[in-house]
Amino acid sequence: MAVLATHDLLAKVFVVWSLAFLILALLSAAYLISKRRADALARPIDSLVEAIQQLAAGRLHEDIPIASGDELGELIGSFNLLRASMQQTQEKLREANALLEQRVTERTTDLATLNQVLTYQIGVRNQTEIALRESEARLRAMTRAIPDLVFVVDEDGRYREILAAGQNRAAATIAPSHDLPVNPPPRAPDSRRRREAPDTEPKQATIGITPLRDRLLHEVYSTEMADFFYDIIRRALETQQIQIAEYELQTASGLRWFESRTAPLDVKFDNKAAAIVVAHDITKRKSGEAQLRQAQKMQAIGQLTGGIAHDFNNLLAVIMGNLELLHEQLTAQPRLHELAQQALKAVDRGTHLTRRLLAFSRHQPLLAQPTDLNKLALGMLELMRRTLGANIQINTLLDNDLLNTLVDPDQLESALLNLVINARDAMPNGGELTLETANILIEEDYATQQADMQAGLYVVLVVSDTGVGMTPQVLERAFEPFFTTKETGKGSGLGLSMVYGLVKQSGGHITIDSQPNQGTRVRLYLPTIERSVQALHEPHTVDVSLRGQGEIILVVEDDAEVRLFAVNALRGLGYDPLQAADAETALQVLATTPEIVLLFTDIIMPGQMDGVKLASEAQRRYPKLRVLYTSGYTEHALIGDGHQVEGVDVLLKPYRKADLGKKIRLLLS
Ligand SMILES: Nc1ncnc2c1ncn2[C@@H]1O[C@H](COP(=O)(O)OP(=O)(O)OP(=O)(O)O)[C@@H](O)[C@H]1O
Ligand SMILES: [Mg+2]
Repeated sequence: MAVLATHDLLAKVFVVWSLAFLILALLSAAYLISKRRADALARPIDSLVEAIQQLAAGRLHEDIPIASGDELGELIGSFNLLRASMQQTQEKLREANALLEQRVTERTTDLATLNQVLTYQIGVRNQTEIALRESEARLRAMTRAIPDLVFVVDEDGRYREILAAGQNRAAATIAPSHDLPVNPPPRAPDSRRRREAPDTEPKQATIGITPLRDRLLHEVYSTEMADFFYDIIRRALETQQIQIAEYELQTASGLRWFESRTAPLDVKFDNKAAAIVVAHDITKRKSGEAQLRQAQKMQAIGQLTGGIAHDFNNLLAVIMGNLELLHEQLTAQPRLHELAQQALKAVDRGTHLTRRLLAFSRHQPLLAQPTDLNKLALGMLELMRRTLGANIQINTLLDNDLLNTLVDPDQLESALLNLVINARDAMPNGGELTLETANILIEEDYATQQADMQAGLYVVLVVSDTGVGMTPQVLERAFEPFFTTKETGKGSGLGLSMVYGLVKQSGGHITIDSQPNQGTRVRLYLPTIERSVQALHEPHTVDVSLRGQGEIILVVEDDAEVRLFAVNALRGLGYDPLQAADAETALQVLATTPEIVLLFTDIIMPGQMDGVKLASEAQRRYPKLRVLYTSGYTEHALIGDGHQVEGVDVLLKPYRKADLGKKIRLLLS
């Protein structure tokens, strides 16, 4: 029993161990199987993990091989699909990127080019702006400097812009200097004389342009004027051509002349075409032109009257000579003697007339002498008082420092008398006559505005009255010969023309200021000469017997009839006359007859030598020889050069025997 029990125990132990071993073997096999299985499962997962890591790193090149068809295989398949899709996307992205980069490069190049263009354009623009600013500054300066009006008017006739208002008050005027004496006398220190000085200040055009902007032409001007301006604008715009117009306009400084140039503008104002207008004040030029026309007219009339007077003079000389002879011989027949007397009076009147005509035409022989106008005026006061009567008061304002002037004193006396008579006629109910003298400097600016006037130092003689004055129409024609407003028989209209001619022939200038009921002021400007030249003019007071004592006198005259009259007259006066028809013959006669004491010669003669040349040559050869000129007409402005040669005088044709006798006696005594 114990052995059986042992045996059983052993069997049981064996079974247990076997079971245990089996279990262990099973467990090991199960472990191994599950390990292999786990390994087989883990490999693709590893691959997957690695692939995901590759994917994360952006490497998407290869698929993971699919080892099984189970879920893992499916997973890997899906993964591979994902990878492929990602790879595709990445490639597309890369392509897009490349494209983008290419575009960016292209764009950058474009931008660089554009940048260059822009930089260039900015440069150009800057330069343009600078040029524009400079040009604007120039334009501003220009419009400030020009004295013209510059404005823009549109097609409706509305002022759009006023670019320059034609005023430049701050302007400084520099006058050119003149050749004047080193110490010219001070110019008119007191107000009286300043008033008398001609207005030599350049007048600034003051145009009332004030608020023109945006106003219509028709609101500013009269309908007529506005229409005129509007028409100019319209024509400029229609023809696209510059329109030039001249017109007179009432301005703040009175009536003034303008020349306007109107040009179409390229710029529009509120869609309206417009034109630019430049208006230039031409008042000075206009008045200069008017003066020139007047001077030319006077010259033409002068030539005409001078020619007529010249021929008449010669006729009158012959008529007078013969009448005088008749008159002398008719003493026994009182009736005929009386008739001859009447005829002689008529000849005298004719002579007077032709002299004034000659004076006007500036062909009157003038014996100019240094003359003191103060003395001359004072010497005539008594005559003036008698002429003017008690109702007219005479005032004198004479400049004590007056310079001398070179003028024919006898003729100037006669001119002054004409002015005084005119003043008397203008003051029928009395008034005042004022005589003034002054030295005056005429400046270039003033002189150039006057026809026929030189700048320089003048003496001025002013005759003013408080009479009826003249209308502009009368004033314009006052100097014309035969122009008179006086009734027939009262005035010949030759007074002022004589004064005019005398002043012009003496190198002077004459002006009249006159307005109806405002009186008249006549100014005579005469050229001055050095104070050192003594004024020689003294009244001829020598009373002499007319008869000669057989002195030999040489008569030189180309007109045979006049010569005959002179020779007869001289013989009648008790002289011993010789004669020559021209200067050459005269010099021969002088050479052969040294006893000749006086040369009586006509001024105008045919041939190389006229009377003046003959006289100076004869006096050069025979210094004691006296000279008496005669002339009815002269081409010379003045006879003598202002330094009066002693023993020289002039007898105007036609002359009376008695006048001839007086002159010769004066020269010989
Ligand atoms: N001081 C004056 N005041 C007003 N009018 C004047 C004056 N002087 C001249 N006139 C006008 O000018 C005209 C011309 O004058 P001017 O001296 O030449 O001739 P007149 O006096 O008419 O005639 P004449 O002088 O030959 O006797 C005059 O008729 C007159 O109308
Ligand atoms: Mg008169």
